[in-house]
Amino acid sequence: MRGSGKLITFEGIEGCGKTTQVDLVCRFVEKRGLPLLRTREPGGTRIGAEIRKMLLDPQNRNLADAAELLLYAADRAQHVQEEIVPALERGAVVLCDRYTDATLAYQGFGRGLDRPMIETLNRMATGGVCPALTLFIDVPVTVGLARARQRNHQDGVADTEGRFEEEAVSFHTRVREGYLALTASEPARVKRVDGNRSPEETHQQILSLIEPLLVN
Ligand code: TYD
Repeated sequence: MRGSGKLITFEGIEGCGKTTQVDLVCRFVEKRGLPLLRTREPGGTRIGAEIRKMLLDPQNRNLADAAELLLYAADRAQHVQEEIVPALERGAVVLCDRYTDATLAYQGFGRGLDRPMIETLNRMATGGVCPALTLFIDVPVTVGLARARQRNHQDGVADTEGRFEEEAVSFHTRVREGYLALTASEPARVKRVDGNRSPEETHQQILSLIEPLLVN
């Protein structure tokens, strides 16, 4: 940790309900009157927004796996330096939609890239800034993908950000298994939350995990 703030990250497969849950936690933190930064990866900075476009554009089907990994790392390095560290130093609660675990789950477990190498890149990009708590919102792959496809087509997002949505079910199954493995290997930091219930029930479970962090 850096400064007196708290970094809390949200993870999960496509359509797990992260955005809704980040919204609800934001409202909770605001009501408590605490300083807050809500952010996301990729795309938490102006430079990161450019990187995000490259990463998620369905036209970039031929993006090499190593290039993809390095772009996520570049986005993160910029984000940590420009946004996350200053926010932690001013004592903010930082709610970040995806962080280092997404790279391990998607590029490591999903794409099959070398995980120790990803850990090294994560350390380089973050300078050791590690979440106080990571919420893995878990839904079955079929449920998540159905939700994501419906949302993306409704909002027209699939045309500009649909690259991962086009991946096979087996890819998303490996990503989910990756998150489960990360939960098992770092149980004190990474908590699995059941995302296959009503948004309010999921929110209550998340609050029970977040509240102890916000007391001091
Ligand atoms: P996100 O904006 O969270 O999309 P969604 O709300 O649809 O889940 O994330 C964009 C995509 O980037 C998502 O498919 C996961 C992927 N991703 C990685 O593959 N590696 C990473 O390190 C990060 C941060 C995201």
